[in-house]
Amino acid sequence: MCGIVVYVGRKGDGAPAVVLEGLKRLEYRGYDSWGIAALDSRGRLATLRRVGKIGGASADRVTRLLGSGSVAVGHTRWATHGGISERNAHPQVDCKGRVAIVHNGIIENYQELKAGLVARKHRFASETDTEILAHYIEEGLARGQSFSDATRSIAKRLKGRSAFIAMDSKGGQIAAVRLGAPLIVGIGKKGEMFVSSDVNGFLERTNKVMYIDDGEMALLSFGKKAQKAPEFLNVSRGTKVRKRIIGIDWKRERESKLGYDHFLIKEIMEQKHTIAQAINQDDAKMRQVANRIKNAFGVFIVGAGTAGRVCAAGEYLFSDIAKRHVNSTVASEFSSYRHYLTKKTLMIAVSQSGETVDLLDAIDVAKSKGARILSLVNVFGSTLMRVSDDFLMLNAGAEKAVASTKATTAQLSLLTLLAYATAGRLKEGKRLLLNTAEQVNDMLNPRYEERIKRLARRLRRSRDVFIIGRGVNYPIAEEAAIKLQETSYIHAHGFAGGELKHGPLALISRGSPCIALVANDDTKHETISNAMEVKARGGYVIGVAPENNEVFDYWLKVPDAGVASPIVNIIPVQVLAYHLAVLRGINPDYPRNLAKSVTVK
Ligand code: G6P
Repeated sequence: MCGIVVYVGRKGDGAPAVVLEGLKRLEYRGYDSWGIAALDSRGRLATLRRVGKIGGASADRVTRLLGSGSVAVGHTRWATHGGISERNAHPQVDCKGRVAIVHNGIIENYQELKAGLVARKHRFASETDTEILAHYIEEGLARGQSFSDATRSIAKRLKGRSAFIAMDSKGGQIAAVRLGAPLIVGIGKKGEMFVSSDVNGFLERTNKVMYIDDGEMALLSFGKKAQKAPEFLNVSRGTKVRKRIIGIDWKRERESKLGYDHFLIKEIMEQKHTIAQAINQDDAKMRQVANRIKNAFGVFIVGAGTAGRVCAAGEYLFSDIAKRHVNSTVASEFSSYRHYLTKKTLMIAVSQSGETVDLLDAIDVAKSKGARILSLVNVFGSTLMRVSDDFLMLNAGAEKAVASTKATTAQLSLLTLLAYATAGRLKEGKRLLLNTAEQVNDMLNPRYEERIKRLARRLRRSRDVFIIGRGVNYPIAEEAAIKLQETSYIHAHGFAGGELKHGPLALISRGSPCIALVANDDTKHETISNAMEVKARGGYVIGVAPENNEVFDYWLKVPDAGVASPIVNIIPVQVLAYHLAVLRGINPDYPRNLAKSVTVK
């Protein structure tokens, strides 16, 4: 979703072009418009706002429009308040054209705050909630407040999770305020400073960071009174906060597509090694975490979107492998369970980005009841990692395509291993999963992809696709539906095989495609029977299974992976989703209306 990149350098550093480069690295998060504010050669604020993709914008053009000064603030916007238009893109400025704002998240009480400004005759140029920040700071400055006090005054009144940057073009200061949405400061060479909502926004240039915590702000100065280092303040008290510079060892991922046409297929293929990476965990740490699970009184596995489906699979995995009851829920529904939470509850939070707002809100609920948080997360330094009591990294490397693939199987692998560790059978779990990783490596060969492509050609004009699974493959059927929906825009519906006869069967007619996810476990025969029920009504049955069966019209062979069947069963559907998108002329990396990291409710 929205992204922020700020650069403060030296004269002639070409700040707008540096910010443009950073914004391009945040493209994968999903957005619909973008903009940059900079100081022109006479020190005046110049802004550029555009609707659409930033990929085509050249550094030369941005430099021509905004100059090559030392300071710039940039933003990619995913519309919430106000339609997708240039006037609603950020930066937003005050009436006097002095203060520029870029902002992530939502100001829940903005209508009430805006009413006061309208009554005091401020002119609004946009429909955004963001713009009120510029006008409030303008008022504070007019009253004689310092820029930092004016910024703090309005920041204290905001409701909802957000982060914003305010730039005072006249006073030579930038405030980076974190109120529940991520912001990180980067320290570059020779006095260069960065701020971004995602470390990828500046990681190309520095890996030295200073974390802004919630309720804090960083003040960066430029121009005549510039100071070499940022200053950190507590927003409500205005007191100084000491910070350390931390070197992060999240190796900058090679972001090129490595010869693939899209990130999605590159990331699908990377599963040849990411499964093994996910389970490459310290045994002592795994045992320690497993003990926490065993000693907890109530365990909840929580995630959103695809991660939410992984959590549901986790419930089956813990039951099957560790004979333990754990509850799973999607993050946005977690607060309904608050009455069952105690200090002995353990929440296992599962997330690729570690920034999904629904999940962070769920953690707030859990923490308010004193529960302990263990997270399984892919992005090092993410908010989730920082607010958790314990964390395990997914080690999947940067995932850029909006549709999650390699992070999904990393999550499934790590949850399976955790279940084994909880059962006191860690070594056995590692052996099984390493074997699965090798099987996936063999499976993902060009002939296999070609076979799936042939199926995609057959399905490309389908209106609906049904997916059935039982046991642990039931949530995987739902995940398969998410993959098909978000990449190919075909209506897809995943459900438990046993539920067919309670409704969905009425939708099956001649040629309706139905994917049956079959595992070599005690659900196998019943899933096959459900596939037969589909076939008897004229449906076209695609079997994802270790063995062929007469009911399958099309068979996609998967290895017999035992309890790791969810990992191997989802992969052919990911490949199918990719090829359907390509055949239907859709960019598989950036589905319409969706975002990689969902930072609004
Ligand atoms: C978005 C992404 C999904 C992801 C979900 C949760 O919807 O498009 O791929 O599963 O958010 O994200 P997280 O980063 O918390 O795993």
